[in-house]
Parts: sequence; structure tokens; C-alpha cells
Amino acid sequence: MAENPAYPVGLRLTGRRVVVLGAGQVAQRRLPALIAAGADIHLVSPAATPSVEAMADAGELTWTRRAYEPGDLAQAWYALIATSDPEANTAASAEAEANRVWCVRSDDADAATAWTPATGHSEGVTVAVLTTNAKGRDPRHTAAIRDAVVEGLRDGTLVAPHHRTRTPGVALVGGGPGDPDLITVRGRRLLAEADVVIADRLGPRDLLAELPPHVEVIDAAKIPYGRFMAQEAINNALIEHAKQGKAVVRLKGGDPYVYGRGMEEVQALAEAGIACTVVPGISSSISVPGAAGIPVTHRGVAHDFTVVSGHIAPDDERSLVDWAALAKLRGTLVILMGVDKIGAIARTLMENGKGADTPVAVVQEGTTAAQRRVDATLATVAETVLAENVKPPAVIVIGEVVTVRPDSSSEASE
Ligand SMILES: C[S@@+](CC[C@H](N)C(=O)[O-])C[C@H]1O[C@@H](n2cnc3c(N)ncnc32)[C@H](O)[C@@H]1O
Repeated sequence: MAENPAYPVGLRLTGRRVVVLGAGQVAQRRLPALIAAGADIHLVSPAATPSVEAMADAGELTWTRRAYEPGDLAQAWYALIATSDPEANTAASAEAEANRVWCVRSDDADAATAWTPATGHSEGVTVAVLTTNAKGRDPRHTAAIRDAVVEGLRDGTLVAPHHRTRTPGVALVGGGPGDPDLITVRGRRLLAEADVVIADRLGPRDLLAELPPHVEVIDAAKIPYGRFMAQEAINNALIEHAKQGKAVVRLKGGDPYVYGRGMEEVQALAEAGIACTVVPGISSSISVPGAAGIPVTHRGVAHDFTVVSGHIAPDDERSLVDWAALAKLRGTLVILMGVDKIGAIARTLMENGKGADTPVAVVQEGTTAAQRRVDATLATVAETVLAENVKPPAVIVIGEVVTVRPDSSSEASE
């Protein structure tokens, strides 16, 4: 006789008694969802993993420290049976059957009255995947389908046509340093929902190629010292498109608030009465050194890092940076937009006491296929940048962290 398919259902467990037997890896994996569902969880187990113990310590469940005893399932709405003792599991599932408590068993799916689907969440939807019957059960298969659906919902490639939830107004999205995989999940989804994208020269430009043809892509490139689109023009374009009821994404390199003029755009939109969402991004100041193998902090080497803009020379009266103070710091200096002024910057740091032999690395076009790293010292960096024809965009890292390698270990203890 053909086996009937399982009947899918969503249990509303808020305040309802759920009994969990066993506190090993299975319980550890399942408990967070039960806690999130607001269940009144009673755990029975002589021992627990440190994570489960922490849940009990935090008051997220009640833990009775002993093995299963008949009667433990009394008053339960639902039970998870996951002890390492098959006999106890069998006895407990018999009790569940007798008391009409739906129960999941970790050791014997056939003997269980319920199965846990592979679940995931995105944008107010729970995706739950079950195989139709016990014969076809393959947790890896269901997990893979769950992953594909959740990923599709998150990145916007899977959208219910009539339920497209578009964020009104403008989304200021930090696109990360350039590698298209380094944008956030939220940023990617908003990009997939956009009618208009106003993009910078830096950031994940490859993602623009994936946009459907109806999406209007506007280049807001701000090329240093060359032709550029004035900030007011960008603000106006954002406002005009949003006023037409379009979903507008302002795609920026790195993080919108790290030398990204993000707040200026937020202010202009607020002034025009247009709703604006800001999505943080991975800043090049940390990710580009990281992509080139440089940790901006390292135990025993640098306990601080300072991110500085190098676009104005230290002796320029418009400079807001205290270079003399920076020269005294022991930690890492990360300089953005500093390629053109690196000679003056290095000289100023040395004049104010920074060692001429301080290691320096310059990482150009980090996280992209064109990434390259050039090493120097404070004394030689200006001539090295010229000789190696290093061009913006580049991140300059100054400090001992530059010499830390995967195969070197620091001796200091803190
Ligand atoms: C106007 S700032 C914008 C920074 C950006 N908001 C961020 O958080 O990364 C531009 C500077 O960031 C640095 N930069 C951005 N992306 C880079 C990349 N992929 N490789 C090297 N430097 C990068 C360069 O110093 C460049 O001149």
C-alpha cells in the first residue's frame, strides 16, 4: 500500500508546553527555533552541550537534570525525543502516542508522528521543505531546496510577481569593495527590486550587468580630478526618480557613511520629504587590507587602527587631520584616497616621529580580479608607488600588521 504523504502544518507554540528529551547536538540545533516560537520548553536530560546549558542559564527553557522518566510528556503539546538511549526514545514515543502528543524522533523517523522540515526565513516568509513520505527522506536534499529558495528570496531572483514588496523611496546601498559577492543580502535584494540604479565608479559594478533591461542605470562616477557629476546633481536625480514613484537604489562603494557622502544624500532626501533606507556595506578600509592578507589588528602587534582620508595634503589648510598625532600612534593607519598625496603624507609622518622603516602596503583594486599589492616602507613608499605605477583606487596600510603572515605567530600575549 502506498504511504500517505505527511500533512504540513505550522504549529503556534507560544506559551505551550513542549518537552525536549536529550540535550546533545540535535536538541542544540532544534531549540533556537522552539525558543523563537515562544514555546514553554521543558528539557529533560542528565547532561547538556555548553550551548544548551547557556540557553537554560539565560532562562530560555527549564532544565530537569535527569534521564527520561514515564510521565515526562504529560500536558505536552509537542515533543522532541533526542536522547542517546534508543530504549528511552522508544518508551518516550510510546508515551507520546498514548497521550496524543505529536513527537519528533531523532533516531527513528519511521517511528515518529511528526517530522521537522528544513526551514529558513526571509522577508516575513517561512520556507519549510519536507519530503513527501518516509521512503524518500533525504535531509540533505530538503536542506538544499530550502537553501535555494531562501537564497532566491533574499537576493531577489525569486519573487512572487504580484507580491513584489518594493521599498518606497530611495535605498542607499553600501555595495562593498568591488567583489559582487561582498554586497549584503539586503543590498542585493533591493538592487533586484530597483527601477533605477544610480551607481558609483567604485563598488560591485558586475552586479549592474545582471539587472533586467527595464532598469535604468545612471552612472554617478566621481572620478578624482576629472569630469564629475556634482553631488547636487546626484541628489536631484535621486529625488526626481523617487517622486515618479520608482524604486531607486543609490549603489555606493564600500559603506555609504565611510567617505561616501551618504549623509549628504540622506539629508537632501529628508529635505525633499522622500523616504530613505540606508543599507550598510563592507568598507574597503577593512576588507581591502583583509583581501590582501593584512589584518588591521593583530594580537600583540596592533590594538587599534585608524582610518584616514588622504585626499587633502597634510600641509593644506583645509586638512582636518592631525597628522602629528597620528604619527605618535602605535597601531595601524589605513589611508583611503591617499595615492596622490602619499609622498607628503609619509614625509609628515616621519617628521613627526614615525619610523622610516615602518612597513607599508598599498593594495590597488582590492577584492577584484585586478587586485595587486605593493610593499614598501614609509621611507620608500612614495617612490615605490611611482615606480610601480600604482593608481587609485587603493588602500594604504601603514604599520607592523603589514608583515604579519599566516605562517608567522606573534610572541606577545595580549
Ligand atoms: C570615496 S572613498 C569611498 C570609500 C567607501 N565608502 C568604503 O567604505 O570603502 C574611495 C576610496 O576608497 C578606497 N577603495 C574603495 N574601494 C577600493 C578597492 N576595491 N580597492 C582599493 N581601494 C578601494 C580607495 O582609497 C578609494 O580612493
